[in-house]
Amino acid sequence: MKKTIIITGASEGIGSAMALEFARRGYALGLISRRMELLQKVKKDGLALGASQIHLESVDVTDEIHFESALSSLDQKLGGAEFFVANAGVTGRSSFDETAWPSAKKTLLVNAMAAIHGLEVMKVKMLARGRGTLVGVSSVAGSRGMPTGGAYSSSKAALTTHLETMRVDLKGMGISVVTIAPGFIDTSLTKKNKGKMPFLMQPEDAARIFATAIEKKKVWAIAPRPYFFLYPILQMLPRAWFDFILSRTYRSIRG
Ligand SMILES: NC(=O)c1ccc[n+]([C@@H]2O[C@H](COP(=O)([O-])OP(=O)(O)OC[C@H]3O[C@@H](n4cnc5c(N)ncnc54)[C@H](OP(=O)(O)O)[C@@H]3O)[C@@H](O)[C@H]2O)c1
Repeated sequence: MKKTIIITGASEGIGSAMALEFARRGYALGLISRRMELLQKVKKDGLALGASQIHLESVDVTDEIHFESALSSLDQKLGGAEFFVANAGVTGRSSFDETAWPSAKKTLLVNAMAAIHGLEVMKVKMLARGRGTLVGVSSVAGSRGMPTGGAYSSSKAALTTHLETMRVDLKGMGISVVTIAPGFIDTSLTKKNKGKMPFLMQPEDAARIFATAIEKKKVWAIAPRPYFFLYPILQMLPRAWFDFILSRTYRSIRG
């Protein structure tokens, strides 16, 4: 197996933690996000940890033309990436004023449209080589419509569903598809939350679990561990119970 990987949203949080974990495992990396100064720091740390090479692209993943050319450039520099991780994501809260749509649109564009765009572009490249692994970082929040985060939940539900279709479509073609569904991980994204987040995990610990799942081409990876059981329970909750329980718990966590 070639040890080459492209990760979006690699400047901080789960993305940078995964980049450093794969660096530790001796990979050649292609990293994408908007903030170059943070990417440079990840590159410096990653090379010190053992990455064979690290290439950077500062690009907004919603800028379709630049995103596609960044993916092509990284893929070429890596000699054909074996793994692609669509990780870049943002969160937004439901609001009841004129900020509601811009926030929802941005969330859907980054988390659903750009993630699916990246996966589709890399799918074509991997199909031409007859091998590769496509990874999407979705969320437990994609399991149901979480209170206060309609656009976030629906963006992640769209991504999870698209990954599922890809997994079935690509069977027997040499391409694996991995869906990652984090619960609460301690990053800038969750720092906005006000309440106590159950089973909150450090990004480095989550990155170790996700990197191993990616290398093993597991269909589904979830962390922290309790969410492995909570995810199907959430999906099965009758609507009245879901409304009652989640409006009291999730809403108080998000503040
Ligand atoms: N933390 C959690 O509890 C949690 C739970 C479930 C799922 N997730 C998912 O995990 C992924 C990573 O989240 P995180 O918690 O690590 O968040 P984070 O710390 O806020 O990091 C988000 C990353 O995405 C990048 N990004 C955001 N918008 C971008 C854009 N338009 N173009 C390019 N890059 C962009 C950011 O880089 P720049 O700002 O430099 O561009 C940053 O590197 C997301 O998809 C998130 O939805 C997180």
